[in-house]
Amino acid sequence: MKDFLIAPSILSANFAKLGEEVDQVLAAGADVVHFDVMDNHYVPNLTIGPMVCKALRDHGVTAPIDVHLMVSPVDQMIQDFAKAGASIISFHPEASLHVDRSLQLIRDHGCQAGLVLNPATSPDCLEYVMDKLDLILVMSVNPGFGGQSFLPSALDKLRKIREMIDRSGLDIRLEVDGGVKTDNIAEIAAAGADMFVAGSAIFNSPDYKTTIDAMRQQLAS
Ligand code: DX5
Ligand code: ZN
Repeated sequence: MKDFLIAPSILSANFAKLGEEVDQVLAAGADVVHFDVMDNHYVPNLTIGPMVCKALRDHGVTAPIDVHLMVSPVDQMIQDFAKAGASIISFHPEASLHVDRSLQLIRDHGCQAGLVLNPATSPDCLEYVMDKLDLILVMSVNPGFGGQSFLPSALDKLRKIREMIDRSGLDIRLEVDGGVKTDNIAEIAAAGADMFVAGSAIFNSPDYKTTIDAMRQQLAS
C-alpha cells in the first residue's frame, strides 16, 4: 500500500471542463479523485451525482474515484454510485438510519466502504463497525463548501482514530478533508492521517504538479 495518498477534491475544479481538469490533476501526480456529492438537504449545497461519475469513467479515468456522500438518505446513492464506477464510497453516520447495513451495502456492491465524521462527531460511532470499514474520513471543516480553514480540533481526533486503527490491526485508511494545504499537511500526517483531500489548495493553484510535489515533499520531511 502506498504510504500517503493525495486526493484532489474536484469540488474546486472548473466544472465546465471537468474531464480535462481530472486528466490534468492525475497527470500532475494525484493518486485518487475525491468526488463530493451534496444534496441541499444534508448539507446546504448541491453538486454532482452518479451521471457525472459515469461520465468521468466513460471519458477514460481509471484512477480510483473516492465518493464522499453528503446526502441523506444514503442507500439509493450507494447503489447508483457503485454502478457508476465509484471505487470508495463514504457517508456520514448521521445520514443513515442503519449505518451497519449501509456499510455492508457498499461492500456488497464491490466498493470500499468509509464513514465520515463531522467536526462535532465523536469517534465512538466507529467502535462496532471497524471490521466493515476500509476508510475513515475525518472532516476538518463543516461539510458543504470548499475553501474553509482547517479546524485544529481535527488533529486530536486523528490521533485518537489512528490509535483505534492500529489497535484493531485492520487495514483502514485514515483520510482527512477540509483546509488541507502545503503548509499544514506535515502536521496533519504526524497526527496519523495517510490520505489527504485538497480542493482549493490544488485547483486554485497556478500549477497542479508544483503544488502536489510540494505536498509530497512536506510529507517526506
Ligand atoms: C467539503 C468537501 C471537501 C472540500 C474541501 O464539504 O467535503 O472535499 O472540497 O475543500 P478544501 O480543500 O478547499 O477545504
Ligand atoms: Zn469531501
